[in-house]
Amino acid sequence: MTAIQAARCDDGEGSRTHLYETIANDLRATGYSINVNALPQDLAESLWHYLQGLSNRAFDPAGIGRDRDRMLNNFVRSDEICWITGEDEPCRRWLAWASELQTYLNRRLLLGLFSFESHFAHYAPGDFYKKHLDAFKGEANRTLSLVAYLNPGWQPDDGGELVLYTGDDGLQSTRVTPGFGTVVAFLSEDFPHEVLPAARDRYSIAGWYRVNTSHAGRVDPPS
Ligand code: OGA
Ligand code: MN
Repeated sequence: MTAIQAARCDDGEGSRTHLYETIANDLRATGYSINVNALPQDLAESLWHYLQGLSNRAFDPAGIGRDRDRMLNNFVRSDEICWITGEDEPCRRWLAWASELQTYLNRRLLLGLFSFESHFAHYAPGDFYKKHLDAFKGEANRTLSLVAYLNPGWQPDDGGELVLYTGDDGLQSTRVTPGFGTVVAFLSEDFPHEVLPAARDRYSIAGWYRVNTSHAGRVDPPS
């Protein structure tokens, strides 16, 4: 058994549903959900192996906002990303898992989540992503943010925490260690957050569910 396997246990259908239910309950109660060791083990391991095989060239410097390819801004964030298209099996499985969660949350919370996009992110030692929101009120775009971490053996003094500003005053915060299999979900418009610099390479998947932004009067695409 590898260290990754030893840290995890039951992974059946029941535990998946249990996780979805926990996320739904947390979102309803507080708007965010932090789950340690939660990504299904087989999925987390296959994504981790996939990442090992990805060449550095697969990653591009991350940008900001809609013109993410042009408006690179190293002052705000210095990580690099690789969009997940579902061409390869581990990515297909990730997208299938995210889609199952989408279906579950739509049934339980009537969120109307319509589509999902996600990328791998690599933060080299010292990289950061300063305090930001994933979506702005009124733009009706990103609704729910989902982050999963793929860092076996992460130690507390490796740093790289996700800081989620959870208080109404915008000051109170919760820190998330980016340990292997931790899954975080939060309402994109409601929680400013930042990524602190780490002492070692840090890998995550960041994803966003959107509602359907078709304009009134236009026929919604079939879901
Ligand atoms: C993002 C983000 C958090 C993380 O990509 O928007 O906030 O912990 N990522 O990687
Ligand atoms: Mn973010």
